[in-house]
Amino acid sequence: ATGRLVDRFGRAITYLRLSVTDRCNFRCVYCMGEDITFLPMRDLLTIEELDRLCAAFIGLGVRKLRLTGGEPLVRRGVETLIGHLGEHVAAGRLDELTLTTNGARLAAFAPGLVLAGVRRVNVSLDTLDGDRFRQLTRLGDLETVLAGIAAAKAQGLAVKINAVVFEGGPEGDIDALIAWCGAQGHDLTLIEAMPFGGMAGLGDGHRSFLEGLRRRLAERWSFEACDHATGGPARYVRVAQTGGRLGFIAPISGCFCDGCNRVRVTCTGALHPCLDGGATADLRAALRAGESNGPLERAIDEGLRAKPRGHGFNTLIEHGRVSLGRHMSVTGG
Ligand code: GTP
Ligand code: 5AD
Ligand code: SF4
Repeated sequence: ATGRLVDRFGRAITYLRLSVTDRCNFRCVYCMGEDITFLPMRDLLTIEELDRLCAAFIGLGVRKLRLTGGEPLVRRGVETLIGHLGEHVAAGRLDELTLTTNGARLAAFAPGLVLAGVRRVNVSLDTLDGDRFRQLTRLGDLETVLAGIAAAKAQGLAVKINAVVFEGGPEGDIDALIAWCGAQGHDLTLIEAMPFGGMAGLGDGHRSFLEGLRRRLAERWSFEACDHATGGPARYVRVAQTGGRLGFIAPISGCFCDGCNRVRVTCTGALHPCLDGGATADLRAALRAGESNGPLERAIDEGLRAKPRGHGFNTLIEHGRVSLGRHMSVTGG
């Protein structure tokens, strides 16, 4: 049965992306500045509040829950939260519990994730070149991340690798990722860079970049049809040479907003009904208004009414601007 969350355009919301912290142990150039200041802990939802919030969304019809950040695995107590959320999976109230991580702490967390019923994780990894990885993440260590991914795989978790692509990035990195992911059995998605913080310089050429990249890749690799669907925005092909799946996430050149099924909540409880644009409800205030879920459900309904038909990234790129409504490190992708 569909839940209660349907927006003005008839789209049913079944997918919640919840940021559990704005903090990160990396400083990726396309995500944040080097000298970023993080929110004070008192502004964050507590683990108990995050738990209550998820239960409320599940009660309203959410079937897929993804924890994001910042880096979700640096949030203190996140293993407790994941353990509790796993009970919804065990009880059949939730189809998927998952997270998007930079992988640095995956080795330590993988066994607990499996116990909680997580079956799949997405790991951001843009290059297999150690020096470039360090440049891009500023603080990251490639070997640690690769060890994290290997540990996840060894525990039986399926892994999807995310790479952000834009003009001027070394294309050889993408070929290396396709080959490595194919050999390791990881899915790979290429994500068209979106105009946030560090991506201020996206030019007009960016609007056709992914299509061109796909054409060039198709000269070196054979793509076969593949109907893999996760409820996320990626459209997949199978790479004949490796047998692996390769997905394209094209918010700019191939807007998928018509099929949008998701909302985001930040670590301070701000509801963002679209990846682009500001918050439309303060769920922290509603959570703190009392024990009853009434105010919370009303705030969610009200915030959802302001969900736009789609993002405005194309116009932003046209005018050389970036989205000011939010930041990747606060709400997750
Ligand atoms: P699965 O399909 O479940 O594996 O996950 P996913 O691809 O939805 O999630 P992930 O966190 O790996 O996100 C990959 C990229 O897709 C990120 O850069 C997100 O910002 C982007 N993305 C996810 N949902 C949306 C959306 O609603 N709008 C836009 N513009 N981008 C999105
Ligand atoms: N555009 C597109 N994707 C981005 N990500 C971070 N910044 C951007 C951006 N400006 C990706 C990360 C991660 C996902 C959640 O969002 O690489 O995989
Ligand atoms: Fe951290 Fe992810 Fe942002 Fe990189 S993209 S700084 S890993 S939150």
